Amino acid sequence: MKSVPTMFLATAAFFVLLGMIWGIQMSATGDHSLSPAHGHLNLVGFVTMSIMGIFYALTPAAAASKWARPHYFLTVGSVVILVLGIVMALTENGDVLAKIGSVLAVLSISIFLAMILKFGFGENA
Ligand code: HEM
Repeated sequence: MKSVPTMFLATAAFFVLLGMIWGIQMSATGDHSLSPAHGHLNLVGFVTMSIMGIFYALTPAAAASKWARPHYFLTVGSVVILVLGIVMALTENGDVLAKIGSVLAVLSISIFLAMILKFGFGENA
């Protein structure tokens, strides 16, 4: 399995690739109705996950901890469920998935905060 920073950054790049294709599709069709879902895919899936990946790259003790990989899988799950949930809410198919996704996203960022507090930022923190 790849290192934790690589997993975060490769997934972030994949999410923004999808997000950009989605953005082009919105521009081409003129249908911007799902733009909040596109925005969350890019901002949580790309920007937030990239910052986490850079944190783990620069803080090896955090990347080596037993919580790093569960944190990755939780974060990926939160992005997928949140974005699908926003699509469902916008298309009036219920908001349960969006609620679950937002709770998972809060859990993910809570683990990120705990990692920073426990390990600091950087190799010699
Ligand atoms: C090929 C690249 C991209 C294209 C073609 C694209 C296209 C679009 C379009 C058409 C909209 C709807 C605008 C409107 O209705 O006013 C939108 C909204 C948005 N985009 Fe993108 N986008 C791209 C990349 C990105 C990236 C990289 C980010 C963030 C890192 C981003 C974040 C957002 C946000 C936050 C919104 C507003 C969402 C909302 O209305 O709630 N986009 N984009």
